[in-house]
This record gives sequence, structure tokens and C-alpha cells, in this order.
Amino acid sequence: MATQSKTIFEQFLAPVFERLLDRDAMVQFRDSIDWETATTALTNPQVDYPEYYLTNNFHGIKNGYLTVDAAVTYDPITQYVLPPSETWVRESLVKAIQGTPRRILDLGCGTGTTTLMLKKRFSSAEVIGLDLSPHMLVVADHKAREANLDITCRHGNAMETGFPEGSFDVVCATLLFHETPPQVTKAILRESFRLLSPWGQVLILDGNQKTLRNADWLSNIFEEPFIREYSQGNMDAWLGHAGFETVRTEDVFWVNQLSYGRKPLPVKHTVPQARIWESQSESYGGGIAAPQPA
Ligand SMILES: C[S@@+](CC[C@H](N)C(=O)[O-])C[C@H]1O[C@@H](n2cnc3c(N)ncnc32)[C@H](O)[C@@H]1O
Repeated sequence: MATQSKTIFEQFLAPVFERLLDRDAMVQFRDSIDWETATTALTNPQVDYPEYYLTNNFHGIKNGYLTVDAAVTYDPITQYVLPPSETWVRESLVKAIQGTPRRILDLGCGTGTTTLMLKKRFSSAEVIGLDLSPHMLVVADHKAREANLDITCRHGNAMETGFPEGSFDVVCATLLFHETPPQVTKAILRESFRLLSPWGQVLILDGNQKTLRNADWLSNIFEEPFIREYSQGNMDAWLGHAGFETVRTEDVFWVNQLSYGRKPLPVKHTVPQARIWESQSESYGGGIAAPQPA
């Protein structure tokens, strides 16, 4: 595992994780995959990587998510950073989905842990996980095959997915936005709004912005380049700005939060009475008297 030298992550967290992690299991998993073939199969050559994605290290992993190291270590580490338990935290999002969606998109799906849970819960839905990292998608795809779950892993940028407008009932993202600059976050929320059908649901599970603001040390220990900007922001406001209604955010334990919103139904265009009479007069062609208002 290549970690950035002399970072707080390396000095304090890496030694802890070294003890907790099963290094042999990770090496065995890494060696069981032909990464070149697998990443090539999942790579869309049309995808352009945004600058923030290429020029930053995320939580201490050198060269970010476009590496085998990042993909192999992600799940073993993540199980320890979502108290009280990873499954409980992720389930908060899955359980908050209302009704029976037919099409679900998981943005920044990474190794697909939430994506798989969505498919298990909504087995008749088409579930798509989208991520910028083919390496992370290789793990997601591997896990889906192992679990015999039919999910689609799509290489793409959540800011501009290429999916048609209004084509999803649910768009969600888990642990994505503490790693994106605010401008990118806003662009992804605008894209989520575009992708949803009327009354479709958006669900965002991520670090608790209030807690992070009040406990700056949390932002210090994880090597996350945009976590401070994320914690200074307000997900409700960002969702409202993107056009969502019935927006609310709830604490998930104290470390995470779940935000929820709906795309409004289309507004019925009410034509003012005067205009109705005007247009009726025109269509009556002048020869026949138009009906007059009572
Ligand atoms: C912290 S991981 C979260 C992964 C997964 N959602 C989870 O809950 O474990 C963030 C993921 O977002 C992806 N990502 C970052 N920016 C993205 C973008 N603009 N479009 C798509 N994926 C992005 C990264 O490649 C990475 O896999």
C-alpha cells in the first residue's frame, strides 16, 4: 500500500490500520484479479477525468482512486471508519427510500457496497453504479458476481453522466461529496436533478457537516483535500439550490448524515383568464362572438 509520506494519516492512522487489516487477504485478493484486463473492460475511453480527481490524494492513498492499491484497501479500511457499524450506516440510506423504484443510480459507487445493498433491497429494480475509477468498479463488479446480483457498473463522471433526462426514480450518493470541491458537488446535484423523474428521490449519505465543523481534528486526521470546504457547506442549501423540494438532513449516529429531497412535480401552467378570452376571440376568427366571461 503506497501512502503519502509524512502525512498525519501515515503517522497515526496507517499504523493502526496496519494492525487491524488482514494484509495476506488483501494480497491474495489483489493477485486473484488480472487488473489490466479487468480495468480495460470497464474503462470508457470517452471519459475525461476532472482536474481535482487527478491532482489530489484521497485519504492518504497516493495517486487517488486510479490505482489497484486504492481499490484493494478501500473495503478493509472503510469497515472501521463508519461507526457504529458500516452496514448500519449504509442501511440508513437504503431504508429511507420510499415506494418501489424501478431504476436506481448510485453515483460515485466505488467498490459498490451500497449499490449491492440497493439491489438486494429492490431486487426488481435496475441498479446502476457509476464511478470515475475503473479500479473501484472492478471490485464492485467482482462483489456483484460473487453475490449473484445483477448490477451495472458504469465508468463515468457524475457531473455529466450521459443518461437521459428523467430516467431514474432514485439517485443516491454515499461518501462522495466530502471528496469533491463545492463547485463539483453543485454540478453533480444539478445532474441528479436532471436525471430524476418527477417526484423522484435524491439521497445523500456522507460525513456529518455539523460534527465536522465542531470537531476540526476529524478533518485533520483523514487526508481529504476538500473535507473542510464540505464541512463549511450545507447540504440542505445545496439540494434546495439544485431545485429539490422537501429537503431535510438527519444525523446518522453523530459522524454521518443522510440528506433527502424530491424533484418537484411539473407545475401546471395556469393561463390568466384574460389570456384565455383573448385566445378564444382569436380562434373564433371574428365571425362568431366569443364566449364572454360571466
Ligand atoms: C469515498 S469513495 C465512496 C465510494 C462508495 N460510494 C462508498 O460508499 O463506499 C468516493 C468515490 O467517488 C468517486 N468519485 C469522485 N468523484 C467522482 C465523479 N465526479 N464522478 C464519479 N465518481 C466520482 C471516486 O472514484 C470514489 O470511488
